[in-house]
Formats: sequence, C-alpha cells, structure tokens
Amino acid sequence: MKKVYIETMGCQMNKSDSERMFGMLSHFGYEQTENPKEADLVMVNTCSIRQLSEDKAFSLIGVWGQWKKTSKPDLKIGFCGCVAQQKMKEVFKRAPYVDFVLGTHKIYSLPEIIKKINNGERVCECTETNATEDDKASQYEIDRVKSVNAWIPITEGCNNFCTYCIVPYTRGRERSRTPEIIIKEAKDAITNGFKEITLLGQNVDSYGKDFKDRNYRLAQLLRDLNNLEGNFRIRFVTSYPTDITDELIDTVVELDKVCEYFHIPMQSGSSEVLKKMNRRYDRETYKKIVEKVRAKVADVTITSDFITGFPGETEEQFQETLTAIDEFELDYSNTAAYSPREKTVAAKWTDKFIDEDVKTERLARLNEKVRENCLKSNQKYVGRTMEVLIENFENHKGKNVITGRTRNNKIVHIPCDNDRTGEFLNVKITGTKTWYLQGELI
Ligand code: SAH
Ligand code: SF4
Ligand code: F3S
Repeated sequence: MKKVYIETMGCQMNKSDSERMFGMLSHFGYEQTENPKEADLVMVNTCSIRQLSEDKAFSLIGVWGQWKKTSKPDLKIGFCGCVAQQKMKEVFKRAPYVDFVLGTHKIYSLPEIIKKINNGERVCECTETNATEDDKASQYEIDRVKSVNAWIPITEGCNNFCTYCIVPYTRGRERSRTPEIIIKEAKDAITNGFKEITLLGQNVDSYGKDFKDRNYRLAQLLRDLNNLEGNFRIRFVTSYPTDITDELIDTVVELDKVCEYFHIPMQSGSSEVLKKMNRRYDRETYKKIVEKVRAKVADVTITSDFITGFPGETEEQFQETLTAIDEFELDYSNTAAYSPREKTVAAKWTDKFIDEDVKTERLARLNEKVRENCLKSNQKYVGRTMEVLIENFENHKGKNVITGRTRNNKIVHIPCDNDRTGEFLNVKITGTKTWYLQGELI
C-alpha cells in the first residue's frame, strides 16, 4: 500500500475536506501516515484567510520540494484548498516541483487526478462549479479524524463579500447541500459511534435559500436530524447575526439534541467600521440579536470573532470593540489583526492601513479582554451540575484527566483514571481556570 500525508492548515471546513480526501485515497489504495517523511504522496490543504497562513503553506512545500530534489525523486506533492483555488496555475511557477493543484470546488476529482499524476502528468483542477458535488460525495466513505465529533458541511461558499474577506473568492457562491446527503452522512457518523454532529457553513442560517424545488431551511434540517435514533448532540456554526431567525432560536430551545451554543461573529464593536466592512448590521442591531438569543435560550454560550486594525480604525473605534465584549457579555472570541487579502475591497485602501505595531498592540489588549470575559463567563457555572461529553483521556501535569465539553460548549477537566471517551457524564463543576472548568464525577 502507498502512504499519504496531508497537512491541514485551515478551518473546520478545510478539515472536513481533508477527511473526504483521505476517504477517497483509502478507496484507491493509500494508507494514512502521520509522518510525511515516509509518505509517497504529501499534500497540503491550505488556508488563505490571512497572509501568514498562505506563507506557511508555501514554506512547507518548499521543504517537501527539497526532499524530492535531494533524496525522494518519486515523491508526489499536492497543493490543495483555498490558496490553491485562488492562485491556480501560478502555484506551478512558484513551486515547479508540485505535481497537482486542487482547488476547493472539485475535491471529488482527486481519484482522477491521482491516476494522472501517477502517469507522470501535472494537473491543475480549479474549475469553479455552481453546484454541490453530492452525487460524487456519496460514492466514498469519509475517513473521519478519530474523535467524538463529526463535521458535516451543509453549505459551501459565501455571498456576503465582507470587504476584508477572501472566502467568497476561494469558496465561490453559496450552495446548499441536499438534506438527503446531510442526513445520510449524519446517520453514517452515528452508526460509526460519533456522539456529536457539527453542521458547517460560512453562514448556516442561509441554508436552503437557494433551493428552487422545496422550502426547507436550517430549522427543518435540525428537526429531521433531531429525529434520528441515538444518543448524540447537534451543533451548527457559523451564524451571520442578521440571518438568525426567531424560528431558529425557538427550534434550538425545543429540540433536545441541539446544543445551547451560537457562534455569531461581530468583527467590530463600531458601527462605522462595520459599515466599511460591509457587514449588514450595526452595534445596536447586533446587541438586540444577542439579547434575544440570551432571553430565549437558557445557559446559552455566545462566541464571536473580532478583527483589530481594520483600515482606518481609530483608537476610539477599537475601544468600542472592547466595550462590546463587556456589554454583550460575549463568552469567548476568536481574534486576529487585519491582514490585507488580494482581490478584496479593503486591501485597496492602502492609505488607511494601520501600522503593524498598532494592530498588534490592539490585538494584545483585545486578547486580554477576551481572557477576562471567558473567566467571568466560566465562573457562572461553578457549583452547577452539567452534562459533559468526554472527548479525551490524557495525563495533564502528572495526573490522569478526562476532558470534554458541556452542551453549551464549555471545556471541562475532570480527574479520572479510566478512559471514558464518548460517554455523557454528569459532572459537578468545582472550580474554573481561564479557558476551562474543573469538575468532579458524581
Ligand atoms: N463566515 C464567518 C467567518 C469566516 S472567516 C463570518 O462571517 O463571520 C473566519 C474569521 O476570520 C472571520 O470571522 C474574521 O474574524 C477572520 N478574518 C477574515 N478575513 C480576515 C482578514 N483579512 N484579516 C484578519 N482576519 C480575518
Ligand atoms: Fe467572509 Fe463575510 Fe462570508 Fe464570513 S460572511 S465568509 S467574513 S465574506
Ligand atoms: Fe477556511 Fe481558510 Fe478557506 S478559514 S474557508 S480554509 S480561507
């Protein structure tokens, strides 16, 4: 059997694509290895959300190219994912040792590509499609990462064109996968022992908007998945603030398997900055949405994403981001300094760019605020008993612990000498650290 190594650099969608690529490759006689040095085929599944992730991808294949030149002339190298979709044939110019470039639209062409490169051809497959490739997807088993959670993409692409963001260019227009294929993938995952299904999309609340022949939206999909037999949880990410409907919130409250967790990126606390980002809401509107979700969904965790140093952002506007985190009691946020991306609108506003050191300094202050609020949010649960789905058994600083997550997505560490991975356990929360709760089995 030949061996394949895939380095996965991006978001959950990117990880889900890697699992699908592994599945196809194992169907065609490849076995996964954790060690790129012993692989016959090495692939990088790239992310272009920031310049740094793009640079990392090119430096990694640089190393592989060197191996090929000096000691492994038969090594095959594949460049896949969002940077591939964006750069296409240009990758060959920059890295002539690459055997194939595979964009995000046609991952199910991988088996044909492998045949061609094994015949000595070089292939670039980055054709955009306006359809989903569900018919092809259903032909292959997905080789999922060993975990309790299974990712299932429900929409691909994005139509929002936020002025900073590359995703609409790397993933194309928004397309919904059919409920039939999603339900099939969910059933397979549950049969294979997965205890949690996470539905993925750049904008999950848009699910089904593009169906011409039926009226079927995210709330309906959640209902159909909730009706499947078995003891498992359902999550969904990411929500675009103004697309969260009352029906969706009510469905989350009503359905027992759907967890009390919303990821609702705000990006900036300043209405003026939000306008320049082409987000379709202002600070007040975001506030109302968060308040509505909190009022209806007991113990809900709401997380967000923020960017510091967007072109033209003033110190006062940045401070509005800090106050938003406090005022809306956001439980946790992902943060990043603005990185200009080729093709996007904001990347052309070079005269408004903020100095690197100012961006970094703001990022540090933002991270401090996130840390403070995460701890505050965790403290609410000390003394409570919560259901935890165990994900790991590990030795943490000399002690055996099991770790897992509550329904509302809080990480919990529990001292325990046995591996209880995959079990739902009732845990008494006894204390908290910044990023996780501490508990005891009861
Ligand atoms: N669809 C999601 C976000 C997907 S991208 C949404 O609309 O919220 C994930 C995160 O990366 C974004 O939320 C944003 O915070 C960050 N991001 C995107 N482009 C960026 C850029 N050019 N520089 C810095 N961070 C960026
Ligand atoms: Fe990017 Fe905006 Fe689409 Fe999210 S909604 S993927 S930030 S363009
Ligand atoms: Fe994901 Fe990065 Fe692409 S965040 S969609 S892998 S640009």
